[in-house]
Parts: sequence; structure tokens; C-alpha cells
Amino acid sequence: MEALRQQLAQLRTEIEAFPVNQVADAEAFRIRFLGTKGALKSVMGEMKNVPAEQRKEAGQLLNEFKAFAESVYQAHLDRTSPTTASVGSSVDRSLPGASQPIGSRHPVTRMKNEIVSIFQKLGFAVAEGPEIEDDWHNFGALNLPAHHPARDMQDTFYVQQNPDWVLRTHTSSVQIREMEKGKLPIRMLMPGRVFRNETISARSHCFFHQVEGLYIDEQVSFADLKQTLYFFVQEMYGQDVKVRFRPSYFPFTEPSAEMDITCFICGGDGCPVCKKSGWVEILGCGMVHPNVLRNCNIDPEKYTGFAFGMGVERPAMLKYGVSDLRLFSENDVRFLRQFPAIT
Ligand code: DAH
Repeated sequence: MEALRQQLAQLRTEIEAFPVNQVADAEAFRIRFLGTKGALKSVMGEMKNVPAEQRKEAGQLLNEFKAFAESVYQAHLDRTSPTTASVGSSVDRSLPGASQPIGSRHPVTRMKNEIVSIFQKLGFAVAEGPEIEDDWHNFGALNLPAHHPARDMQDTFYVQQNPDWVLRTHTSSVQIREMEKGKLPIRMLMPGRVFRNETISARSHCFFHQVEGLYIDEQVSFADLKQTLYFFVQEMYGQDVKVRFRPSYFPFTEPSAEMDITCFICGGDGCPVCKKSGWVEILGCGMVHPNVLRNCNIDPEKYTGFAFGMGVERPAMLKYGVSDLRLFSENDVRFLRQFPAIT
């Protein structure tokens, strides 16, 4: 046992003195101490000379020594292997790593998320629907039967393969899908892309985005509609912004209104954005038409509700100072990079 201890002590001194400056040295180290014919193996061979009652202790000693030799070897490897070794000594390991550029959210998505998050504070949940719709969900159920003149309000893209299919002209179709589920009350927000056959210009495009809202319950009134939208406007555009409702017409609401806010560019004094009127229109709204409720098997005697729909691109243009709607869909990185990631 004593002989073993002495042997190990000697070996330790040798290990610590072994010069390792490059990978080849580390390999020589491994062969000398840890290899199949290495020093450690031969010391282990000595085990048979250790008296039986001391074997356990000797085994422990050897194991510890082996772990020590292996850790020294590993350290040599780490230091000398080409992947981690410095080339010469010119690498400064304290330099920060190369940064990974991350993408950022599209301005339309940002605007949409902002709108959604305000209504979420009031308990509105988000629902989505298909972009290719059937006639019933885009028109019929919304109180726009075939040949209804109001169908001309929106220039529709029809799908050639199936005359019953359209690219949805508004997110109001998702209202129908939500009501059809038959679960009441409904307090939903429905953001999405819509399509209209319009000439592409700086101010209009053949596709754009809307956020639709729908609230159906017992005793929902026009006062609830006004207060909800008023809350939205204050959160979105600030406490000082004024609101006005103008009577309007939508087949799916009665009464219907369009909501204007005081121009957030000029504060109501008149500027090119509000065409000198001091007001900008931001959404359409109204009380859900009883026919629409009936079309979705909801009893209009028991339930009432309001709905609204707004565009996303226009407020995004105003907020981010974008003068041409086409920029949103051209995917020019010089444009997109102007909206850095929010950290
Ligand atoms: N669907 C209308 C449009 O695209 C917007 C709209 C108006 C939606 C009134 C509504 C509403 O839900 O109640 O022009």
C-alpha cells in the first residue's frame, strides 16, 4: 500500500511537469499516462500485490488518481485543440460575440396588435376566419341577398372555379361565423386581410386589413357601442381627441353610423390629411340588424348587439408617416428596416 502511494506521488509530479504546448503534446500525454500501455495501467497492475483487506482503499486511491489525470488531459486538450485555441495569441477572448440581427414586426401588424390590445382590456377575444369565403358568409347572412344594390359598395373578386366563392371583401364575414357557433354572449375582435378589386394607387390597394368587432348579449344598447368606441379612441389617440358619429348605411346594421375623430395631425384646425375639415373618419359601426341575428339563429327579441369595422392601413400610415399605401406590401427592406424591433 505504501509502495502504491509512493508510485502515485511520483506519477503526479511527472504529470504536473509534463510539457504540453500543442495538440501533439496532449496526445503524447494521453499515451504516456492514460493509454492502454500507459503509466496508470501499469500502476493498476500492481493491485494484485496489495493485500486483500487493503484493496478497497487502494481501488479508491487509484480511481481518484485516474480522475485527476483525465482532468489534466482534458484541460490540455481544451487549451491546445484548434477549435478553441487562440491562433497565435492575437484573439481577444473578451470581445463581445457577433450580434445576430433579429427581424421586426411589420407596421401593419404593429398597428393591428395595438388596436387588438386596447379591446382586449375590455374583454374582447380574438377570432379569425377564412380569406376565401362563400357568398353566404360574405354577403347573404349579412343581410345582402343576391342582387342587393349594396353589393356594389364593394368591388368583389370572385373565384373562377366556384361562382359561390369570393375573396372576402370585409371581416364582417367572421361575425357570421362566430354567431353561427351558437355560443352567447359574444365579445369578439376579428382582425384579418380583405380584398377588393380596386385600382392600386398610393391611397388604395386590392388588399388591405381590417379589424372587426362584435358584441352580442341581452340588452346591449347604442350607448354601449358609443362608450366602447370612445374608450378605444382615448386609449389610441389620447384623452383630448373628440368623437362624432354620423348617420350612415350598412345593410348589416340598423341604425348605422360612421365615426370620425378630430384630426390627430392638426388637432382639428384643418390640414391636408383631414382635407381641411378637422375630422377624420376611422370606422363604420351600428347595431346588428335583426335579420343578421335571425340568419344565425339568434333571437332578436332576446339579444341585441353592436358591431364595428375599421381599416388598419390608414391609421398606420398616419401614425408612422407613410405616404404611399403600396409600401406596406412591397417588402422593400429599406422600408421595413425603418421599423426596428421593439425590445
Ligand atoms: N364591413 C364594413 C366595410 O368593410 C365595415 C363595417 C361597418 C363593419 C359597420 C361593421 C359595421 O361591423 O357594423 O366597409
